[in-house]
Amino acid sequence: MAHYPAEPFRIKMVEPIQLIPPEDRQAAMLRAGYNLFSLRAEEVFVDLLTDSGTGAMSQAQWAAIMQGDESYAGARSYYRLADSMQKIFGFDHFVPTHQGRAAENILAALLVKPGMSVPSNMHFDTTDANIRARGGRPANLVADAAFDPTLQHPFKGNMDVAKLRAFIQATGAHNIPFGAITITNNAGGGQPVSLENIRAVAATYGEFKIPFFIDACRFAENAYFIKLREPGYAGKTTLEIVHEIFSLADGAWMSAKKDALVNIGGFLAMRDGDLYQNVCNELILREGFPTYGGLAGRDLDAMATGLWEGLDESYLAYRLGQTGYLGERLLEAGIPIIEPPGGHAIYLDAGRLLPHIPHDQFPGQALGAELYLEGGVRGVEIGSVMFAYLDPDSGEMVYPQLELVRLAIPRRVYTQAHLDYVAETLIRVAQKGPSLRGYRLTYAPSLLRHFTARFVPL
Ligand code: F0G
Repeated sequence: MAHYPAEPFRIKMVEPIQLIPPEDRQAAMLRAGYNLFSLRAEEVFVDLLTDSGTGAMSQAQWAAIMQGDESYAGARSYYRLADSMQKIFGFDHFVPTHQGRAAENILAALLVKPGMSVPSNMHFDTTDANIRARGGRPANLVADAAFDPTLQHPFKGNMDVAKLRAFIQATGAHNIPFGAITITNNAGGGQPVSLENIRAVAATYGEFKIPFFIDACRFAENAYFIKLREPGYAGKTTLEIVHEIFSLADGAWMSAKKDALVNIGGFLAMRDGDLYQNVCNELILREGFPTYGGLAGRDLDAMATGLWEGLDESYLAYRLGQTGYLGERLLEAGIPIIEPPGGHAIYLDAGRLLPHIPHDQFPGQALGAELYLEGGVRGVEIGSVMFAYLDPDSGEMVYPQLELVRLAIPRRVYTQAHLDYVAETLIRVAQKGPSLRGYRLTYAPSLLRHFTARFVPL
């Protein structure tokens, strides 16, 4: 049987988990309005809701935490983080933020005016919502390969550069306050973007003088995919690849809860000194002084250390190997997923697994709910619950092309036996496929509705 590189660490602290009985899982779901976000985490056995902030920190990170400097201004911790930031990303300026969406909020507040558009390969939900919250329009210009779940392509996160150019010409560069790209493409399967594509995107934004920002949550996983898959990069270190990626951008934001292996943290980085001044003012108003940005000093130290650990190649080989292993086990059993497996997660294709459930009855919700009821495994719907919206121009509901359930793998947390358990639970759910029913929404707020929506089974 296939397996993946052994964990390049050993475990010296454990957190007990337990599988509660089926009738308790039923009761928990009823109470939660069938929304997996509303469960108590203790009611979950294997929690694949997110890879965000759920990783296990190393002994070096915990040791760094003990050395955190809690000074309000100019703390040692800030300068240690600034050193890592400089050596890894190389931007002239950065501010820490408490997580990724705080950076998105600041960027959108400063740059997005009503009616403006922000293109990307695909925006994640919080980026999308932060742009909309300022009256802006997020535009997803990922290459069509992303929408063909079984197409084998090494870089399915790539932006369609021709579409980008046409979009800029149609919209007008003055209506585009900044352009983005998300690496890896979380909303589209955790798929990587090639350096060749990042270079072409940067050149296109540059030609129209549009500032180019990278959503860098999973930059290390993306860089390691480039090393494995892109011609000419096998002999480079992941760090060298990272240098090349960020040399092409005017700025970046990151939820450090992903590839920096911390439980909380993020940053917003840029080259433009005037923008930095404005960012500092906005940060002071909402988050904190620019040398801590809404975090404790110890959090900055954990991030300064974690950024390097996320780049370690023996860790990355194990990390991407683990995700690939789960994907292969599911494919062997005939369960449809986005192929090839992404970096941080497996995306189950609920649209293909449950073709009898229409968009407006939420096939991803149905699959995610059943996976929990069957075996206490929690994933997250990435489909019509998360992304369907009422088009202001046509007045009609627009549904996403793919109805997915993401199984995100926390970093350094679960073993192969946990992944085997997940695969076996899913195989049982898939066998019940045709008998599964859809759901009806009974409550939904207008933005980011997946977090608090309530449902009843049909
Ligand atoms: N950008 C991407 C690509 C993300 O995946 C996330 C978070 C954010 C921005 C926002 O960062 O959560 O620190 O505010 N993604 C998490 C997830 C929540 O589960 O994929 P945040």
